[in-house]
Amino acid sequence: MVREPGQTEKGFACRLLDWYETSGRKSLPWQIDRDPYRIWVAEIMLQQTRVDTVIPYYEKFMARFATIRSLADATQEEVMTCWAGLGYYARARNLHRTARIIRDEHGHVFPDQFEEVLALPGIGRSTAGAILAFSGNQRHPILDGNVKRVLTRCFAIPGYPGDRAVEKRLWEKAERLTPRAQVAAYTQAIMDLGATLCTRHRPGCAACPLKPSCIAFAQGNPEAYPQRRTKPRKPKRMMRMLVLQNRESEILLIKRPPRGIWGGLWALPEVPPEFGEYGAWCRSELGIRVSGGRETHRVRHELTHFQLDILPVVCEVVDTAAMAMDNRRYLWYKPEPDNPVAIPAAMKKVFKQVL
Ligand code: ADE
Repeated sequence: MVREPGQTEKGFACRLLDWYETSGRKSLPWQIDRDPYRIWVAEIMLQQTRVDTVIPYYEKFMARFATIRSLADATQEEVMTCWAGLGYYARARNLHRTARIIRDEHGHVFPDQFEEVLALPGIGRSTAGAILAFSGNQRHPILDGNVKRVLTRCFAIPGYPGDRAVEKRLWEKAERLTPRAQVAAYTQAIMDLGATLCTRHRPGCAACPLKPSCIAFAQGNPEAYPQRRTKPRKPKRMMRMLVLQNRESEILLIKRPPRGIWGGLWALPEVPPEFGEYGAWCRSELGIRVSGGRETHRVRHELTHFQLDILPVVCEVVDTAAMAMDNRRYLWYKPEPDNPVAIPAAMKKVFKQVL
């Protein structure tokens, strides 16, 4: 039987809502109430991270910053420390900036108008829609990665969803399909379906409530959607980083500048490519005399826009008498699992390899 997109639209929301009743997720930590603050923090964490990974970070974050006020009044260092390990740190910086905007411009109250929410740093159209759907049952469509997969399959929409024209078509679909009532349940349902059944590989079509109307299923090729981008390979970047260890077995970390890779986090000192000799660089830039200079194996780390190869160079610190005592910039760090310092995951990989 050939299915038409019109037939597929009919009953879409009802099928999803029925399935949600029996099979959707209803007791995630951000579902205990409709507090937009709690929902906003969750949606930001969930933008690039899976539910299972998010939960412990979310619990810790909410225990530490229970209100917008406490988040806004915290230092960036405190926020980054709580976020460390979750990755994509621009999210944490935007969360903090946004909390301050809400404190200063919205009287500590999370806005409930779509345009105002969308104007906040770190919140795009889909996240704004999800926050208002979950917190106020407002009717706004969402279109995250999971939803794109569900829609491209159900409606056999060709093309790469990141292309503007394809994305526009998907937004129109999402808009038409979003029901007038039970928007919160519908929004959670379509996210859950994408995360648990309509998975990228080996989707669980047998149990899917949309199976009777899914065009990709009828064609026998759900995994052909969404189409992949024929993407250019990520560029590669190399970084030489010094592991400077003192007699107390502490390691020198430097605060990264606020913008750029690992902005605001603590990382190993990076030796610019034009410097051939580590010792001279340590003396002139850090005021530290070192010995050794053992290059170890490269540590590979994937970032959003490039692939990073870190070349760790292990040196012993001989003398720090000429070093500036600037503890906002320098930190002697004991690499222990419960040492609460905001360090990017790539640095933890390096420590694991060389220490
Ligand atoms: N992904 C994005 N938002 C989500 C949510 N509220 N629940 C589960 N997964 C999600």
